[in-house]
Amino acid sequence: MPFDPLQTRLIRRLGIANPVFGFAHDAAAVAAITNAGGFGVLGATRHTPEEIERDLAWIRTQVGKKPFGVNLVLPTGMPETDNRAAIEAQLPEAHRAFVRGLQEKYAVPAASQAGMRSRFVRSEESAQAQLEVVMRSDVNMLACGIGSPLEVIERAKATGKLVLALVGSPKHARNALSKPIDILVAQGYDAGAHTGSIGTFSLVPQIVDVAGDVPVLAAGGVATGRHLLAALAMGAQGVWMGTAWLTTAEHHMHPVVRDKLLAARSEDTVISRADSGKTLRQIRSAWSDEWAAPGAPSPLKMPLQDILVGDLLGAIDEHEVQALMHHPAGQSIGYFNEVRTVADVMDGIVAEARTRLERLADENEVTTATATS
Ligand SMILES: Cc1cc2nc3c(=O)[nH]c(=O)nc-3n(C[C@H](O)[C@H](O)[C@H](O)COP(=O)(O)O)c2cc1C
Repeated sequence: MPFDPLQTRLIRRLGIANPVFGFAHDAAAVAAITNAGGFGVLGATRHTPEEIERDLAWIRTQVGKKPFGVNLVLPTGMPETDNRAAIEAQLPEAHRAFVRGLQEKYAVPAASQAGMRSRFVRSEESAQAQLEVVMRSDVNMLACGIGSPLEVIERAKATGKLVLALVGSPKHARNALSKPIDILVAQGYDAGAHTGSIGTFSLVPQIVDVAGDVPVLAAGGVATGRHLLAALAMGAQGVWMGTAWLTTAEHHMHPVVRDKLLAARSEDTVISRADSGKTLRQIRSAWSDEWAAPGAPSPLKMPLQDILVGDLLGAIDEHEVQALMHHPAGQSIGYFNEVRTVADVMDGIVAEARTRLERLADENEVTTATATS
């Protein structure tokens, strides 16, 4: 069989067609990614256990035996119980006043119900409840976002799941590699949502070097077949993409936010701690501007910031306060300017990687001929 650089060892092992892993919070997008020959992974950190159970079961009905995964964020240092009152009691008055001030300035009506955006407090208790349904499900992979506790990894593996960890630095990678992780995602600074400080090009080869036999996926800024080829050249066995799917036809998205995403260029994303307390890359909006303005308080730590701003964020979305509406997205958003199907995005990336590979060979041939003539 001729050598096909896109058929990496990892994807042959997983039995999937393309070296493209896709993260999305939307079950329909996840199913479409798997059905397009990739590996879809459902972001479920803000899902209730019931929603996780429902979505995983639904995705299975769509993909049959093809593999897909689920992602949870399991940071250390969270409170033990899902006790909202205890968190609220810790919110400084100056921060509450700032949030009230934003609500008044932008005339945001009150949300029709509390906790629409932050329906539960990130806590050991809520994480356990989410994990229980994941462990009971037949999902093929658990992808750990922030934090990968050993007991969780061991339990997932005991139920036949692959375990993947996202890392943003060689230090994170060494920590993850001290546990029985199956796959690492090296996620660079360009990425949407929670992100570290090292750019993807600087990060990926370093992670490949420390990972040994553990396969690495490159993430952060991947949008085209050229990125995919570059990732493989850096030693990754595939790419892991999040931003790419936000504007796809399958991904449910508020029309105002979708228009903002479609119009955004790479330079229109910013990193702000104002949503969750951790650095989160998102589309720039009045929300990120207000929190970065002189005199604004420094956002609180996770999970306090979640609770401080959760009701206001819920109200902003409910009442469509356009200036403040925003969404996590990475710098690759500049490549996605029209609504396309997941399969079209996937096929485009794979086809471009193949054409580009041929062109590399052709261009080299021309250069050699010119040099010797
Ligand atoms: C809207 C959005 C939400 C995300 N939420 C999570 C999350 O909950 N957990 C996680 O591990 N990664 C999350 N990520 C990061 C993705 O897993 C992925 O690493 C990242 O999107 C890759 O970079 P890219 O955005 O440039 O494609 C999110 C990304 C986006 C765009």
